[in-house]
Parts: sequence; C-alpha cells; structure tokens
Amino acid sequence: MTHTSPRQLFVTTALPYANGNFHIGHIMEYIQADIWVRAQRMAGHEVNFVCADDAHGAPIMIAAQKQGMTPEAFVANIAAGRKPYLDGFHISFDNWHSTDAPENHALAKEIYLDLKRAGLIETQSVEQFFDPAALEGKGMFLADRFIKGECPKCGAKDQYGDNCENCGAVYAPTDLKNPYSTLSGGTPVLKASEHFFFKLSDPRCVAFLEQWTQDGKLQPEVANKVKEWFSTRTNADGSTSTGLGDWDISRDAPYFGIEIPDAPGKYFYVWLDAPVGYLASLKNLLDKRGVDFNAYMKNPNLEQYHFIGKDIVTFHTLFWPAMLKFSGRKTPDNIFVHGFLTVNNGEKMSKSRGTGLDPLKYLSLGMNPEWLRYYLATKLSAKNEDIDFNAEDFMLKVNSDLVGKFINIASRAAKFIPNGKLVSTKLSEASLDLLRSVQMDDEALEYGKGLRDVMAFADTVNAAFDAAAPWKLVKEGKVDEAALIGSECMEAFKIIVTCMKPVLPALAAQAEIFLNSGELNWVNAAKPLGAGHVIGDYKHLMQRVDIKQLDALFEAPAVVETASQATPDKASSSANGAAAIEPLAPEISIDDFSKVDLRIAKIVNCEAVEGSTKLLRLTLDAGEVDASGGVKTRNVFSGIASHYKPADLIGKHTVMVANLAPRKMKFGVSEGMVLAASSADERANPGIYVLKPVAGAEPGMRIR
Ligand code: 2FM
Ligand code: ZN
Repeated sequence: MTHTSPRQLFVTTALPYANGNFHIGHIMEYIQADIWVRAQRMAGHEVNFVCADDAHGAPIMIAAQKQGMTPEAFVANIAAGRKPYLDGFHISFDNWHSTDAPENHALAKEIYLDLKRAGLIETQSVEQFFDPAALEGKGMFLADRFIKGECPKCGAKDQYGDNCENCGAVYAPTDLKNPYSTLSGGTPVLKASEHFFFKLSDPRCVAFLEQWTQDGKLQPEVANKVKEWFSTRTNADGSTSTGLGDWDISRDAPYFGIEIPDAPGKYFYVWLDAPVGYLASLKNLLDKRGVDFNAYMKNPNLEQYHFIGKDIVTFHTLFWPAMLKFSGRKTPDNIFVHGFLTVNNGEKMSKSRGTGLDPLKYLSLGMNPEWLRYYLATKLSAKNEDIDFNAEDFMLKVNSDLVGKFINIASRAAKFIPNGKLVSTKLSEASLDLLRSVQMDDEALEYGKGLRDVMAFADTVNAAFDAAAPWKLVKEGKVDEAALIGSECMEAFKIIVTCMKPVLPALAAQAEIFLNSGELNWVNAAKPLGAGHVIGDYKHLMQRVDIKQLDALFEAPAVVETASQATPDKASSSANGAAAIEPLAPEISIDDFSKVDLRIAKIVNCEAVEGSTKLLRLTLDAGEVDASGGVKTRNVFSGIASHYKPADLIGKHTVMVANLAPRKMKFGVSEGMVLAASSADERANPGIYVLKPVAGAEPGMRIR
C-alpha cells in the first residue's frame, strides 16, 4: 500500500503493570514498536506513539500494602524508574501516562455508561471465596491467584484456585479441598456479591466480533486462535460451553481501581480500564499540545494500532474492540502480536545460572543499546513465534554484521575519497530496490527479512570494493579511479544507513553528521549525495561486543545458600545500580521504629510442615522464661522452605519480631516472625536470605 498524503497513526504498546521494573520482554516489545514507528516517521507520516503504567488491580494494592505505602505512592515510585530504560534503549514514546490518571477515570466511566445505554451491561449475583482476615482484618474477595488448596482430582497440596500444576486438572476455586488464603493463611468463606457483566454473548457483539476478527487484518495464527473461541470455551469448572461468554467487569472494595458510576463499593476490573489507558495517554498528550482529543479520534483517516504479546490476545481482539464499537468509538485497525522472548535457549532462570538479561545491567555495563535493537530486529518477523536471545549468536551477529560488514564500508571507502569530496553521481538499481523493499518489510513487521537483505547487499558492496582493489589503483597512480570506487561505496553506505535508521537511530544520527547528508528518510535517500558533495572525517561508528561484557551480563549473582554463609550480594547490588532496588517505604519517626520489638532468637528446632511446600516450622528461643523458670520457646512459621533445609538453620541465631500479634494459620498459631531479605524483583534474584547477627549476640537481646 502506498500513501501519498501523510498517514495519521495512533500507536501503542501494551501498558506494563506498575508493580515492578521493566524486564527484557517489555524492552523487546518497545523496540519492535519503536522500529515500526520510526519507519513510519521516515515516510513523513504523523505518529502519536504512547504508553502508560497499568496501575490498578488487587496485586498492586497488596504489594503496596506490604510495603506500607498507598497504592498511589507505590505506582508513582515505579513510574519514576521508567525513564532510564526508555531513554537507554532509544524508545521514542511521545507520552507516558498512568491508568490512574484523571483522563482514564473519566474515559473508563464514559465508555461504561455508553455500553450500559447500549443495553450491554447486566448484573448477576456471584458466589466467591472471601478472606475475612485479609488486609489486616478488613477482609477481601480472593482472586484465584490468592487461593490455594488440595487438588480435587489428584490431592496434590498447595495448588492454585484455577488449575493443578501436578495433574493439569482445571476447576473452580470452590472445588479445592481445604482451601486457604495465601494472604492470611486462613480459611476463606463463600460470600455472594453482585457483579457487573459486559454482555459479549449478545448477538450484536458476536456478529461484530466475528467480522472484525476474521476480515483478514489479524495475523493468520491470531485469527485462527480467536476463531476457536467463538465455538468453544472452557469454564472455570473445566466444562466447556459454546459461544462467547459474558465478561465479569467488576470487583468489590477494597480494590485499587476506578469506582463504577452509581455502584458504591464496586470497581472496574483492572482489564476494563487498562486499554482505556491507551486513549487516556493520547488525550493527555493532545491536551498538552492544545489539540482536541475528540476531533482527533473522529478523523476518518486515523489509524490505530496496538503492539502486544500473545498472552493478552483475548483482551485486545474481543473485549477491547467490542468496548470501543458499542460505546460508539473508533475500533483498532490492527493488533500486532509478538511471541515471548527467552534467554540463552529458553533456559529456566535459575539461581546458579544468573538471571536472564537485565536491561539496566546491560546498560550499566556500557553495552550499546543498538546492539540489542539490531539483534532482536534480526529475529523479529510478522509471526508471533517465540524468539531466543543467545549470547554467542548476539556477539557473532553484531560483530560480523554491524561492524564487519556495515561500518566497514564507510571506514574503508573514506580512505580513498580525497578531502571527502565525492566524485560519483549514481545510485545502483540494487540499492534503490533495497531502499524500497526494506521500507515495505518494516511496514509489514518483517524486520528480520529486511535486515538479511541489507546484509546481503553490504556483502556485494564489500565484494565490489575488494574486486576493484582501490589501494592498488592508488599505488598505480590512479587516484581518481580509486576515488570513484570510494564514492560509489559511500553512496551505498548511505542507503544502508537509511535502511538501518529505524533500528539504529543513534548510529544513523552520527552517520548523517559524517555524511553531511541532513536527516535521511525513505524519499530523500533515493537521490545520490552526488559529485562534489563533501563528507566529514570518518570517526569509528561502533565498537565490537567484548565477550567480557557478556560474561558480566550473565554472571550469576552471589547466592547465599544458608544463614551461616550469609555475605552481602555484591554482584547484583553493584551491577543493578540504585534504580533497581525497591522503593523506600514512607519515612517514619524513631518512635514508630521503637514500636517494633526485634529480638535475637536462637533457632532451637526447625522442621518441614506437612502439607506445605512453602513453610518451615521454627522453634525459637528468644530468652523468655515460662512460669516455672524454664525456657519458653515460640512457634513461628516462615515461608522459606524453598530456600532452606531445616538442618541449615538449627542452632543458628536470627532476628525475630517479638511483639507481633499471634496469627492463626492453617497449620497452627505463629507467634512471631523471623526477618529475611529478598529482592522486589524475584526474577533478578529469587533468593530469600534469613538474617544472622555477628557472633556474640545472645537470645533475648533487643535490636535498636
Ligand atoms: O499483561 C499486562 O502486562 C497488562 N498490564 C497489559 C495491559 S495492556 C492494556 F490493555 F492496557
Ligand atoms: Zn491435581
């Protein structure tokens, strides 16, 4: 498709949950979208490329509470850490916003009310597990992920509320035997509550979605998957039904989200207001520019695209288009779905092997962000296949393609162009074909194919240079002939720079200065720089990847296996930098601190807890005596069984919170808490490190 007038494009990536820093999967999606956006801008099209934090939902509310913060402060802290990643990897978003912003509250409510007016909202009473002890006794309805119990089919313990990891059975949380809340450890009770549903089963929705998803715009594999959902769906209890089911869009207080109009205590489920955040971020951007949001959205030529991962296709191909359509709004023109990224052959991230690929660590090691952009781009296609980051392959590709083939052309050719003055005026047909085909490949998300063609072209340029041997011509006194070869290669180099520009924007900017070409785009690059054009002095444009950087990137953080070996984790703390630690809790006074009575305790016994894979039962001597003057021990449950064997801990000293109210758990009463360190980013460091005082501290001593 060719476009004569500028296209108006509204482009987003999926909104990341505001509960942690970006991981490499986020960065890959942003790079994929950013390349597409940059290629469009190079064609003169007008793009608004936006994203935002997905701020709402129960997990964020609970994470904030655990840190003693309001959810607003918690998500603000996460938002404050976004910039180094986005700038670091040259992601050219025009705006970053939040789904908790006023624009989103207003838009989500408007859309809901429009759907209600269209007769597509209904209420039903739903019975769900409720944990009266959760949230410090305030109580809350439990999402499936906060309920565990024994599998109704095979009896495996500690299985989640929706499916069994042991036998694969799918069931409803209410089918679990001996269910317990992972929040309080207590037994949940069944409680009925009124829920709001979006009637996807309405014939209007079904007819619209069948057409919208099957009209050929979606990637074929995505369209086929969606087609299955129209015929069969799996219910919570494992049974199947035909046709689209209605969508439960409400959650009960307490919930961090947007309150449903005229329904006090009821909130929109996070997935209702999350995609509305696309519009809210755009509106925020347009407001800042003084552009009318509604008028912008009404432009019949506006095109709307969302880049997402394959795990959230349902939300973007069913719920979101239907919400937009039946609230009288513009529907997306397409959804671009990518696969997952694995690191080093999809190896499970393990403690001993390190932690995948931490984007900030990558940058802090001085690794060039454009190496990663290039490497990922070579692997990306229009299919939603998973791709793998392989360290050796990465080094090979970057060093041989970018430095050995591409940059090499300029560094070799520059030597034979006296005073930088070009003598050639022509561009080869092959180079013009390449320019056109790479632009089309970028449009079609076929970055890997485009880059393979670029490298094949670079090979031919290098081969022509070798065959002409300008160094020999110079020796033979044929300086003008050598200059012609050098000039032709430099024109070819300019074409390659242009083709690479969406992928390597910083390198392209440096090359534009060197070539003295002005800002290159798909149109102006098709004209030769021409005879008499003077280029600048060549300065090296890109370093090679050093194997030592990759070793450092994948170096496993020092792992402390037992309390007796506890040492500071130097590797991860220095490499991750300050931005990687979890945000500090709000300031407290010394009086606040002194309310917490911390004591040295000796672990006199430690044992596994039958029926729990998570807990260990500790018997602690904190220097207390009973009525008869004997040692009074405390029984404390601690969720550290995945990291410690009982024998690792028996006889060791640790730190205990001694004045914590006793807590009734499924396996007994816990009479305190032992202190342990863990990373907020479990993927970066999944360890749990129990505290151990320096030798000499005795049971009962207070920590102040
Ligand atoms: O899966 C996720 O990470 C969601 N936070 C994506 C939301 S995309 C959009 F709908 F906001
Ligand atoms: Zn099972």
